[in-house]
Amino acid sequence: MTQDELKQLVGQAAADYVNAHVPQGAVIGVGTGSTANCFIDALAATKQRYRGAVSSSLATTARLQSHGIKVFDLNEIDSLTVYVDGADEIDASGAMIKGGGGALTREKIVASVSEVFVCIADASKRVDVLGTFPLPVEVVPMARTATGRRITAMGGVPVVRVQKDGTPFLTDNGNEILDVKGLRISDPRTLEMHVNAWPGVVTVGLFAARGADICLLGGDTGVETIVYERN
Ligand code: A5P
Repeated sequence: MTQDELKQLVGQAAADYVNAHVPQGAVIGVGTGSTANCFIDALAATKQRYRGAVSSSLATTARLQSHGIKVFDLNEIDSLTVYVDGADEIDASGAMIKGGGGALTREKIVASVSEVFVCIADASKRVDVLGTFPLPVEVVPMARTATGRRITAMGGVPVVRVQKDGTPFLTDNGNEILDVKGLRISDPRTLEMHVNAWPGVVTVGLFAARGADICLLGGDTGVETIVYERN
């Protein structure tokens, strides 16, 4: 199976999971990226079951609305039963690197208020140790260089994310992203706390304090369901 086919497979598996576990009339938390898009497309078939969704990016909002799924502001919603999103890497504890699509901050906010985080990924995303995929760090633009120095002191190599025309990529929140290469992240929870404490850092793309509860992992033999113990 191609990677795209695997993404469709896990997108459908996530829609099946939600239809089986989430009560009618609920609001669903929806992530960002090509795998999350497959989930949105699959969920559209049963959209009447739900009141709507809370979105983690402008791109996801547009996709949800293109299917006629109502998008709520998170401030209007008390709680979310489930959040479904992809990952750039996921380790054996359910900790993830996310933010390859630049939506890490809103993803982390929506994930933080959801009861269950369902990660959907193709098998290439599973790793023993996080860090081969460059770690995104969203920064307030004036803190870019200072944050880059701190990253370098820690042994990482920060690269400012740019658009095709060479200008800095800006997130939905108007901030910039440093993609950090060269890290071997054996203790993601500690690194997440450490980097998040730097002034000017909006979010580091480590999802360890609130990692996945379940991963629906697509491989050549089908979808494997992995359940993580969270504490
Ligand atoms: C978006 O900012 C990311 O966190 C995505 O969830 C992650 O990059 C996975 O994206 P794909 O499903 O496109 O690989």
